Amino acid sequence: MNSILIDTLKGKKTSRPPVWFMRQAGRVLPDYNKLRETYSFTELMEDAKLASQITLMPISKLGVDAAILFSDILVVPAAMGMKFNFSSKGPKSYVTLKKIENPVNFLKPDENKLEYIYHIIDRINKEKSPDIPLIGFCGGPLTTLCYMIEGFGSAKDFPETVNFFYQRKKEAKKLIDLVTEISIIYAKGQIAHGIDVFQLFETHAGVIPADLYKEMILPSVKKIGDAVRETGTPFIYFPKGIGTGLKFMSKNIADFISIDWQTPISVARKMLPSEVGIQGNLDPRILLIKDEKKIINELEKYSVFFSENNNWIFNLGHGLLPDTPIKNIQTTVKWIKNQKGSLR
Ligand code: CP3
Repeated sequence: MNSILIDTLKGKKTSRPPVWFMRQAGRVLPDYNKLRETYSFTELMEDAKLASQITLMPISKLGVDAAILFSDILVVPAAMGMKFNFSSKGPKSYVTLKKIENPVNFLKPDENKLEYIYHIIDRINKEKSPDIPLIGFCGGPLTTLCYMIEGFGSAKDFPETVNFFYQRKKEAKKLIDLVTEISIIYAKGQIAHGIDVFQLFETHAGVIPADLYKEMILPSVKKIGDAVRETGTPFIYFPKGIGTGLKFMSKNIADFISIDWQTPISVARKMLPSEVGIQGNLDPRILLIKDEKKIINELEKYSVFFSENNNWIFNLGHGLLPDTPIKNIQTTVKWIKNQKGSLR
């Protein structure tokens, strides 16, 4: 595969940094929003033809260097017997584990419920250009459990999940093990069907203290990462909000760490061993700015970092926001692509 993303992930020098965006396959795309007038999110996600079409939209529309599977991290809890409804205001859960007396027994993990996604991956691989890598993913164990235990309440810091971890630690550990087990099966299934890179989205890493995260979750992250990397597939890990917990990261955990917008990229670089690559970390809200010059100014802050670091993938510090003007995303891609040759 002739891919600047794969080359960078494998430690090769490239003429410019690769670029893709978390949440690139979704509401920033006019063609996606048009489909949403006819179909629900669930219908789009479950239909191989439509899901494949949406996965590939950002390649032509935004000019990014990779496609990410159009799906959601909630497919894993769904395969464990949890039911969600993706309403127009976002997902809702029918039951949450906090309300159930014996949550461990309530869950009925069934890997067959993930089969339909493998058909989508097959279809994408038939339709995409062979030089465009496909990124597969699942949620990190803590993030997945936040939605399973607590659902989609107004509290973004998941206080009841945190209480559950402190007060029902033994059960929490069993739940983590169950989520980890099916995540590994799912990751391997995606790889068997031809994804080229795997990213673990641990969006809510910051809801518990970093040392508790290290104790309770990081061993599971390593298990998932090991299963992915055993197959030769590069593993990117996005522990959003981990803060000083970056010091627990090493090449043992992941090939690349995706850095959130809270952490200055130069600080992250100093905290991580040099052999660990970095992805990130433009604040997605910068792309809401109307004045293109201001966006370029922000991008130029990366020039020095880029000139000194080969193992960098340009991305955001969290996903693209729904109202981001497509022009701003295209400007960003163009800027990255113009770095060619000038700095290395
Ligand atoms: O990155 C991509 O473009 C690929 C597809 C993708 C989606 N969700 C599609 C989606 C990916 C990788 C995700 C990951 C995901 N899902 C995360 C981790 C990353 C992050 O952004 O924090 C989380 C926490 C979820 C759970 C989730 N899914 C929430 C909280 C919501 C509602 C809020 C929101 O952003 O819409 C979703 C819905 C969702 N997932 C949509 C899309 C395109 C919107 C559905 C719609 O109404 O069209």
